[in-house]
Amino acid sequence: MKLFDVYPLIPIEPVRAEGSYLWDKQGTRYLDLYGGHAVISIGHTHPHYVQKISDQLSKIAFYSNSVIISLQQELADKLGRMCGHSDYQLFLCNSGAEANENAMKLASFHTGKKNIVAFKKAFHGRTSLAVAATDNPSIVAPVNETSNIHFLPFNDEEALEQYFLKNGNTICAVIIEGIQGVGGVHVARPDFLKNIRNLCDHYGALYIADSVQCGYGRSGKFYSHDYANVSADIYTMAKGMGNGFPVAGIAIAPHIKPKHGMLGTTFGGNHLACAAAIAVLEVIEKENLMANALSMGNLLIGQLQKISGVKEVRGRGLMVGIELEIPCNDIRNILLNEFKIFTGSSSDKNTIRILPALNVGSSEMEYFLNALQQVLSIKTSA
Ligand SMILES: Cc1ncc(COP(=O)(O)O)c(C=O)c1O
Repeated sequence: MKLFDVYPLIPIEPVRAEGSYLWDKQGTRYLDLYGGHAVISIGHTHPHYVQKISDQLSKIAFYSNSVIISLQQELADKLGRMCGHSDYQLFLCNSGAEANENAMKLASFHTGKKNIVAFKKAFHGRTSLAVAATDNPSIVAPVNETSNIHFLPFNDEEALEQYFLKNGNTICAVIIEGIQGVGGVHVARPDFLKNIRNLCDHYGALYIADSVQCGYGRSGKFYSHDYANVSADIYTMAKGMGNGFPVAGIAIAPHIKPKHGMLGTTFGGNHLACAAAIAVLEVIEKENLMANALSMGNLLIGQLQKISGVKEVRGRGLMVGIELEIPCNDIRNILLNEFKIFTGSSSDKNTIRILPALNVGSSEMEYFLNALQQVLSIKTSA
């Protein structure tokens, strides 16, 4: 059987990884500023993470949600404390799309309504409702098309208010990334998020904070939505949560009441996933990685702004978009092939996405800045 060919591949096979580095079969070392799409949060093969998963594997790896799994409560307690929402409720699942799917479904159950506001350039995943709330018609199959999702311009308060004024009573949720990732790293303005909170309160809708990519400390705060100083009703999380182990979740405000059978999953919250997620939180806390994400991000953003050929730098902490004056494809290829640096792309052809591990150091940042400066000075003078 051959593989279903849906991914354009980087022609490199990493066979070993440690911290912010990857090695291929030939022993060539690569600096990983992409983190397998923002997934690597505490660094590849962190010893505490390896130990915790290995220990768990030798005890019990899996049982379904039909039994008590006390690791789930341990994870919920730790997560609640670290994100500042101890009073929220945790539902565990397996991927970002599944988290968003459940969040939107829950909003509809809770409010009894069915219209959802999403934003232009949003990416929320590839399952039925998540993909319908994703602003990319090329990945929406006919069966996923629905009139229940309404796309509004991002950060446009006037458009949001007008939409609520006309349709407020039909809306069950507003879903928004704190920092749009796939869309090219666009930060939601704090005032815009505050306005979402107010309108949702006024019209009885739920505010869903998609923190799948921008959450889990990457922005320097636990959820990047926290920069607005208002709480969401539901936070969705995935990527950085397991540092590569598939685990995701939704944190649900206390006013939303559960009912048996309302949500469910076979694999979500299994023993190994919980062990991985607990290890990640322990490392983030012990090694002060949110502070490191903020200081490394500030260093990077400050220096990038001085490089000629860089048009705009967007983002917070270690979720950074570098918009070049020219398309970034060639530049990324040179960074990879000549300087051995993995970077990310986005739907905007000029924007490079930088999503390193939260414990990346200043020497890695400097190596990248130097490389980018060299590549851009050759390319823009050619
Ligand atoms: C903001 C956001 N939401 C949801 C998803 C979907 O996550 P997954 O691929 O784990 O389903 C992604 C993936 O890139 C994402 O960036």
